[in-house]
Amino acid sequence: MDDRTLVERALAAREGAYAPYSRFRVGAALLCEDGEVIEAANLENASLGLSVCAERNAVARAVFTKRWQWRKLAVATDSPDFIPPCGACLQVLAEFTRDLPIILVNARGQAHEVSLRELIPLPFATYDGGGEGGA
Ligand code: THU
Repeated sequence: MDDRTLVERALAAREGAYAPYSRFRVGAALLCEDGEVIEAANLENASLGLSVCAERNAVARAVFTKRWQWRKLAVATDSPDFIPPCGACLQVLAEFTRDLPIILVNARGQAHEVSLRELIPLPFATYDGGGEGGA
């Protein structure tokens, strides 16, 4: 799959956002090793701290279907800027991979590629055993 298609999937995934409080929609499209694209969006709650980011929802969906290995992630917002995943999402992504190309997509559909490793060079880890094959 080419980058443009993945970018379009992330832009479209914003439609699935439930963001009545922030009005900030985020769409994620995670390209898995098997070629499947897992889409997700942010899910807010009246108890604001319970809101879940698009990226973490995408990880949950992917792992639920046993897709531990990924090729690329695209994250789209309604902002004119290139917005990176928050620190919590970076840590959750790092549970499953040491590095991953991440395409940041702004509201105009423009793309800017970064990497998980550059955004979180030293993720928290306590012991081996996580990631692929974890219980
Ligand atoms: N949000 C994401 O979906 N991903 C991030 O990496 C950071 C923030 C969402 C959470 C909330 O619904 C809205 O953006 C505003 O913070």
